[in-house]
Amino acid sequence: MVYRLLKLGHPRRVAHYFKNLAPGIFLQELCAKPGAIGAICPSSPYLARRMAQQVPDGDGLVIELGGGTGVITRALLKRGIPADRLIVVELSSSFVQRLRERFPDVRVVHGSAAELAQLIPQGERIRAIVSSLPLCSLPAPISRAILEQWRILLNDEGIAVQFTYNLRRPGWRDLLRAEEIGSATVWANLPPAQISTFSFKTRKLTPPRHEHHSS
Ligand SMILES: C[S@@+](CC[C@H](N)C(=O)[O-])C[C@H]1O[C@@H](n2cnc3c(N)ncnc32)[C@H](O)[C@@H]1O
Repeated sequence: MVYRLLKLGHPRRVAHYFKNLAPGIFLQELCAKPGAIGAICPSSPYLARRMAQQVPDGDGLVIELGGGTGVITRALLKRGIPADRLIVVELSSSFVQRLRERFPDVRVVHGSAAELAQLIPQGERIRAIVSSLPLCSLPAPISRAILEQWRILLNDEGIAVQFTYNLRRPGWRDLLRAEEIGSATVWANLPPAQISTFSFKTRKLTPPRHEHHSS
């Protein structure tokens, strides 16, 4: 049942999946900083694939926030994002070490997404920010600072992709001044998740029409 829920299939793939989960590191981080992890286990491959599918074609940078054990990093590479166009930002040093071992060709930055602009190359076009940060369980000022970084960096270009376990409207949505351009529910995850895609394009205001009434 769990195998089918996670869409794993073959036993050898199951063994590979659990090895890559690095359950020891995940559990250790979860116990040490539950609010910064905000999940009972890493994302399923199915959720990771759906997240990666939201990234549009193009040549800008793709920034992943909160790489964890690398399930979404792997899906982004499989989606065809070149390793040298992908940057992963992760706060936990244990996860950073694991991500660097697992993806030696990907730039893994140790730091907080709340200071994103200082962690990535200046002036490069950003195609997408793909986030699995636990925006609901992080302290409110941190979540606010993270969303502000998205608005600054994606001003008129690129998209942001975020998942949440809150299938209703999560509180951080009110802080995000962006248009939701797509959403999908992924049931094959523990717990089920809602993926939202946002654009920060400023809406071009159409000039008011002056109507002339002839009497
Ligand atoms: C829900 S886990 C997601 C892990 C993995 N991407 C997945 O989908 O299984 C959230 C991740 O965000 C990281 N994180 C939390 N706060 C962060 C911050 N301010 N900046 C960067 N990463 C952060 C945590 O260390 C953790 O790896």
